[in-house]
Amino acid sequence: MSDLPTMSFVSQEPETIGDAEGRIVVFLPETGKLDQLARRVNRLMKGALQRFADSNDFARMKEGDARVLSYPTGLAAEAVQVVRLERRSKGAAARKAGAAIGKASRGKSCLILAGSLRGLSDVLLGVLLRSYAFDRHLTDAEDDGSDAPGHLTIMSNQPEGAEAEAAETRALAEGVWFTRDLVNEPANVLTTTEFADRLTEMKSLGLNVQVLEEEELEKLGMRTLLAVGRGSESPSKVVVMEWKGGGKEPPFALVGKGVTFDTGGISLKPGAGMENMTMDMGGAGTVAGVMRALAGRKAKANVVGLVGLVENMPDGRAQRPGDVVRTMKGDTVEVINTDAEGRLVLCDVMWYAQQRFKPAGMIDLATLTGAMVIALGHENAGYFSNDDAISKAFQKAADAEGEGAWRMPLGSGYASQLKSRVADVKNVGGRPAGSITAAEFLRRFVKDETPWIHIDIAGVASRSTDTALAPKGASGWGVLALNRLIADGYEA
Ligand code: BES
Ligand code: MN
Ligand code: ZN
Repeated sequence: MSDLPTMSFVSQEPETIGDAEGRIVVFLPETGKLDQLARRVNRLMKGALQRFADSNDFARMKEGDARVLSYPTGLAAEAVQVVRLERRSKGAAARKAGAAIGKASRGKSCLILAGSLRGLSDVLLGVLLRSYAFDRHLTDAEDDGSDAPGHLTIMSNQPEGAEAEAAETRALAEGVWFTRDLVNEPANVLTTTEFADRLTEMKSLGLNVQVLEEEELEKLGMRTLLAVGRGSESPSKVVVMEWKGGGKEPPFALVGKGVTFDTGGISLKPGAGMENMTMDMGGAGTVAGVMRALAGRKAKANVVGLVGLVENMPDGRAQRPGDVVRTMKGDTVEVINTDAEGRLVLCDVMWYAQQRFKPAGMIDLATLTGAMVIALGHENAGYFSNDDAISKAFQKAADAEGEGAWRMPLGSGYASQLKSRVADVKNVGGRPAGSITAAEFLRRFVKDETPWIHIDIAGVASRSTDTALAPKGASGWGVLALNRLIADGYEA
């Protein structure tokens, strides 16, 4: 995966500031009062920092905003970035401040004068998340070195404590970066095989990773999953990632849709915008990122991540509209539309997850329906659940991480839209409430005793504009919320 900036933590040595190269970050509270480190910067700059703190420019800045003083007199650094942040600021404001730093410092060395800042781990999370860029296929970035990871030096009044806290922050950021790399990667690079290989590499983090090949999937009876992948040259796979950080209790299961490219199959999608379907493995990407974060921070929980990796292509071997296929559970499905493939992949993996692991709870994630984007746009993912307690816990976790999530309804009336003449169920329920009928399809494959959430991330997995913590492209939505859900509800 892409390399995060490296970090080192040093104690307060004001005398080293003048010689620091690259960028320097200074924090100022609303009062404009300079701390010891800022006073040093100000002296070296012959009072320019104080003049800025006294200016209307500074007065107009909001919490978390940043301004740059370029090529300052008296300093070796090329820029001083002034960030307005209260010493006690935490959460969203601190992350926003960090994002401003991360965006500006990507690929450079940067001295962050944190002093006695309280919300340093939130600041650093913002820095790490926003310094991401997907530039591995840009020849120029490689040539001029702007794709280098960069280095952050954090000057703190308690460097050891800050460094210890930052290890966990870094693990979370690595999870988000991992998801973003997977989701951004084009489908000719991220084939099902390459995807499985990248997941298998996570064995080095202490995860148990198992790849189930087509032969085994056939034996297990995952016929609807295999039917989706039949038109592709890339073999279908299911990857099982286990993190056993807890005791003897059953694991929590995360299941992801991993369609490496969705052409629609024989029910071919229109050409315009089809290139966006490289992100149709976003659910699997998120599951992978959460597993990476959990392993990276050595979570004291048992969690299993399962992803169904397939490519949906039209071909002489591809499944047809009208085909009837039997799921692993045993229900038959009339495939009305081969473009409603995600649910055909998930139903088998979800059933397998419950059969094999008897999980304490299960969350599936998928870029499942265009209707979800129409309903909630890009601000919120929609989620559907059979259990109020797990829904509340998830909502709380998503709110705490600033990842938009909105609960949607289920209901037998919606389920009846899926009645088929020739099979137990059909795979589409018509235009009305398309996201809900998709969720109702999945619900058939959830056992009564399994608390379950289905999250449709079609609108949030990849964005066409920059967001607070990510450049345009893959967002990594959900990694932080799911990590927190596990931490708050399932960890010793
Ligand atoms: N992968 C798509 C859903 C999607 C659309 C994700 C836009 C992200 C952005 C899914 O496989 C799909 O094609 N769904 C169909 C379902 C329909 C045929 C019932 C859709 O939404 O049009
Ligand atoms: Mn589709
Ligand atoms: Zn799809």
